[in-house]
Amino acid sequence: MNEKERVESLNQLQARLEFFRDLGVEFLVSPRKKAEKSQPAEAENPLLIAGSFSGSPASADGEEWERLIRKIMSCQACPLFKGRTQAVPGEGNRQARLMFVGEAPGRDEDLQGRPFVGRAGQLLTKIIQAMGFSRDEVYIANVIKCRPPDNRTPRPDEVKACSPYLLRQIELIRPRVIVSLGKVATDFLLQSPKSMSELRGNFGEFQGIPVMPTFHPSYLVRNEGNKEIKKMVWEDMKKVLKLLES
Ligand code: URA
Repeated sequence: MNEKERVESLNQLQARLEFFRDLGVEFLVSPRKKAEKSQPAEAENPLLIAGSFSGSPASADGEEWERLIRKIMSCQACPLFKGRTQAVPGEGNRQARLMFVGEAPGRDEDLQGRPFVGRAGQLLTKIIQAMGFSRDEVYIANVIKCRPPDNRTPRPDEVKACSPYLLRQIELIRPRVIVSLGKVATDFLLQSPKSMSELRGNFGEFQGIPVMPTFHPSYLVRNEGNKEIKKMVWEDMKKVLKLLES
């Protein structure tokens, strides 16, 4: 590593530590022993989707995933397909114990075909890292797989049309715990009339899987100076960690 790279990596470390401090993190979770972690990630690979991947699917689940991803990529079940660059199925470890569910792809996600890669995504990545995981150890998906125009909130008919995809993803992954990010994901999973402020921080349940509702990272980005909101999110994530360790 040369001097410039060293300075850059120190700057990155400083930024991360400052973020952890803002979150109210009193400790850094040490990386768990590999054995305790989920199986290695088999991220959704656009090459695999396009059929140019030379290996054959390793299991029935592998074939099922391929079918599912192909369906999502070519879906025309609601009008959102007309405005997409590409659908964003989700990515990460298909045997993850921890799954994050967001709302819908934004501009960056639509362009890259990957969930949570814009500003909110960078924040989510930091939260995941603060929990002691990397992005490819968890699974990240959205309720809606295509970008709504101008990032508007998805309409109920769009959520309904897209719902089989997330339902199947959850069925295939069977995570130990799901974190629902924001109102759309929380409404989808918990079907509660309560507000986010009332729901966050308390486990609900979706098909027997504990669901922790928390604020959407975009809300944190919009309220950047508000450390209380970040702290609340970190409190929620600590509960998730506790459950994962139990
Ligand atoms: N917001 C979401 O809900 N999902 C993304 O993938 C990006 C931003």
